[in-house]
Amino acid sequence: MQWGMANRLAQLIRSDGHVLILPVDHGYFQGPTRMLEEPRKTIEPLLPYADGLFITRGVLRSCVDPNNSVPIVLRVSGGTSMVGKDLANEGITTSMEEAIRLNVSAVGLSVFIGTDYEKESLLNLSKLVNDGERYGIPVMAVTAVGKELEKRDARYLALCCRIAAELGAHVVKTYWCEDFEKVTTGCPVPVIMAGGPRVDTEREVFDFVHDGMQKGSIGVNLGRNVWQNDFPVAMIRALRAIIHEGATPVQAEELYKSGQKEG
Ligand code: 5RP
Repeated sequence: MQWGMANRLAQLIRSDGHVLILPVDHGYFQGPTRMLEEPRKTIEPLLPYADGLFITRGVLRSCVDPNNSVPIVLRVSGGTSMVGKDLANEGITTSMEEAIRLNVSAVGLSVFIGTDYEKESLLNLSKLVNDGERYGIPVMAVTAVGKELEKRDARYLALCCRIAAELGAHVVKTYWCEDFEKVTTGCPVPVIMAGGPRVDTEREVFDFVHDGMQKGSIGVNLGRNVWQNDFPVAMIRALRAIIHEGATPVQAEELYKSGQKEG
């Protein structure tokens, strides 16, 4: 791997090989998502605990202080919305030159495998990888399921992750699922777990993140289950303990409860 690419990945992935990315990109197709209506207010208290931010250029420029040193993964796909015809019909929204101007550590784009726009989204990924290789910018592929959350099973997600890796993605973001080792073993590049819609209890989040880490994931890109929680700082700190300190779900829950006093 060329030096620039390796250096950017090292900015993001900590020396233990693990990473906690905070995604705040949801507005690019959902508009002002609950608890992310004012992104700066959501982001600022969580920044000290995030290894990276997954974010669009618009929110980055308007809501993140350029003096901040948190590595940026720039969301560069979009062009569709929740109220439009088909979420899968995304294009590349942001050029590689813009990514370089914004001094990002990586770029991220969604692929929609099994949809009418499978080919377009996979060719978007291939183009992004070609451009990224030219400038030394790593690409994170997001295996998107749109509104079809029931697609989150090992067979489908393993297929998606493998295809993304074959096309050259440097990191793949997917959902945790039962038999998650089938997803990670079939994917020759690092796999990161997304969170999905908020689940009922914190313990459910700690359980699946811990399980995914045991089964070969390098970390998370987890948004709503952090910033829609009543105590987002306590939540992100507990997740950090699992990802970087090897905490068990029980220990993470104890940390979360003791952290509630702080926010
Ligand atoms: C939205 C995304 C998000 O980054 C991803 O879904 C992770 O966030 P969450 O944990 O809230 O699902 O790609 O398009």
